[in-house]
Amino acid sequence: MIKIAQGAEAIVYKNNNIIIKERFSKEYRLPQIDQALRQFRTRREAKVLQKLEEMQFPAPHLLDFCDKRMSITMDFVPGEKLRDVLKQSDDFQILAQEMGLRIGKFHQHDMVHGDLTTSNMIKHQATGNVHLIDFGLSFFSDKDEDKAVDLFLFERALASTHYEYYPEIFNKALDGYKKAYPEYASVLARLEQVKKRGRNKKR
Ligand SMILES: Nc1ncnc2c1ncn2[C@@H]1O[C@H](COP(=O)(O)OP(=O)(O)O)[C@@H](O)[C@H]1O
Ligand SMILES: [Mg+2]
Repeated sequence: MIKIAQGAEAIVYKNNNIIIKERFSKEYRLPQIDQALRQFRTRREAKVLQKLEEMQFPAPHLLDFCDKRMSITMDFVPGEKLRDVLKQSDDFQILAQEMGLRIGKFHQHDMVHGDLTTSNMIKHQATGNVHLIDFGLSFFSDKDEDKAVDLFLFERALASTHYEYYPEIFNKALDGYKKAYPEYASVLARLEQVKKRGRNKKR
């Protein structure tokens, strides 16, 4: 087993074609809160992975989870993070559309990702399909507001990580989003409100 990533919340290990993601405790949190939060996020991530599997959505297959060890065991998705793929090529249009298609399908099923960045997307080495990962902050909601905030944070992530292609990359993603999610209009209208709110806050 080798450690392949350590983020703010979790350590990710790989063993052959299996990934184990373990949420570690954070010293600055009160112990009871820390325990509850890690347990909640572990269960949530497992539940979302199950739901996505039912939908045949491109995401890792869940093998097991344990809310005492705070671990998720899932299939390894072979490929590169979209973040890196996009940095290596000027050909962002198709990938941007595909990101939008994935997010649209997610929202159409009343799921909000909660951490949409190109580091949480993998271009599958064999199929070329974009897979989503990292569902610890995901939740179920049919509210335009929640979906709009998801898009707002995605747009901000694109603007900072992929500034070379911004705003075209976000507009292309929206093309895909609209294709996958026929009731997009009210979410995009809400997104405009969310953006205005963001601007007002800064003043
Ligand atoms: N199922 C998976 N297949 C391939 N790589 C993965 C998988 N799960 C996690 N990773 C790798 O580990 C990194 C961190 O995992 P992630 O679930 O995004 O946790 P974090 O909350 O720390 O961002 C990812 O960016 C990715 O490189
Ligand atoms: Mg991540």
